[in-house]
Amino acid sequence: MAGNCSADHGRRGFLQLAGGGLGVALAAGPARVRAQTPTASPLKIGSVGAGRMGGALGALFVKAGHPVMFSSRHPENLKDLVTRLGPLAQAGTVEQAIAFGDIVVMVVPYSALEEIGKAHGRALATKPLVLDICNPIARRDGDAIVKWANEQGGAGLASAKLLPGSRIVRAFNAISYRRVGDISHRAGGLVGVPIAGDDPKAIALAEGLIRGMGFEPVLVGNLAFGKYLVPGTPLAEEHTPAEIRQIAARLR
Ligand SMILES: NC(=O)c1ccc[n+]([C@@H]2O[C@H](COP(=O)([O-])OP(=O)(O)OC[C@H]3O[C@@H](n4cnc5c(N)ncnc54)[C@H](OP(=O)(O)O)[C@@H]3O)[C@@H](O)[C@H]2O)c1
Repeated sequence: MAGNCSADHGRRGFLQLAGGGLGVALAAGPARVRAQTPTASPLKIGSVGAGRMGGALGALFVKAGHPVMFSSRHPENLKDLVTRLGPLAQAGTVEQAIAFGDIVVMVVPYSALEEIGKAHGRALATKPLVLDICNPIARRDGDAIVKWANEQGGAGLASAKLLPGSRIVRAFNAISYRRVGDISHRAGGLVGVPIAGDDPKAIALAEGLIRGMGFEPVLVGNLAFGKYLVPGTPLAEEHTPAEIRQIAARLR
């Protein structure tokens, strides 16, 4: 499946494009960027988390042609999900999903990040992109974690502390799992996805991935800006790319 020669060649192309840097992509302008971004190239994705949001995003990755390994602490429970998504989907442990992924998508409760960082931080730090979907939410993760994350400068910088060395880009943090499948490839204008990150190659990879899923990525700032990419902020929910740029400009 993912191991065949043409798929590997495609992945290399995708990763090499990211190696070309964000500057090249931005200089080309939106239309050129879309044409140059090989979103059709398969990129192996390790999804750490396969719950409501992990499953919804994973379905979009598979639809875009990417092989996905979903993780659970009980991978046998993911049989229905991977059967439903077909041959590009498989299940494994957290360790297996991280090893599998050219890139990793982190989509677990925020309270799980510390443990995952301690157990798998070194492996995660070798990846060119860790897409951080996670939010600190008091009712689920507890007030102490939310307070701690705020003290670090918000969700982006806090994730970087919990996953040291990872090339983190935050994305899809405040679009509901119930909506994300329905609004991809929206006719008449793509929905924007605000993203925040520090590493240009990771950002370029995330942008290509998100375009392939049928959304328009909008870089709103560095990882410190990740504090705005949580539910309940003006950037949350669904916006056009132009609206996201306007809102982000007001937040600066
Ligand atoms: N739900 C949404 O609409 C939405 C939207 C945007 C962002 N988010 C964010 O996405 C993250 C996940 O939310 P969700 O709604 O998808 O949660 P969920 O349905 O409860 O799924 C959580 C997933 O995390 C895994 N997990 C939990 N603890 C873990 C640990 N210690 N180690 C490894 N894996 C662990 C679970 O796997 P096992 O228990 O099977 O091991 C499960 O697959 C949250 O941070 C949330 O804020 C959610």
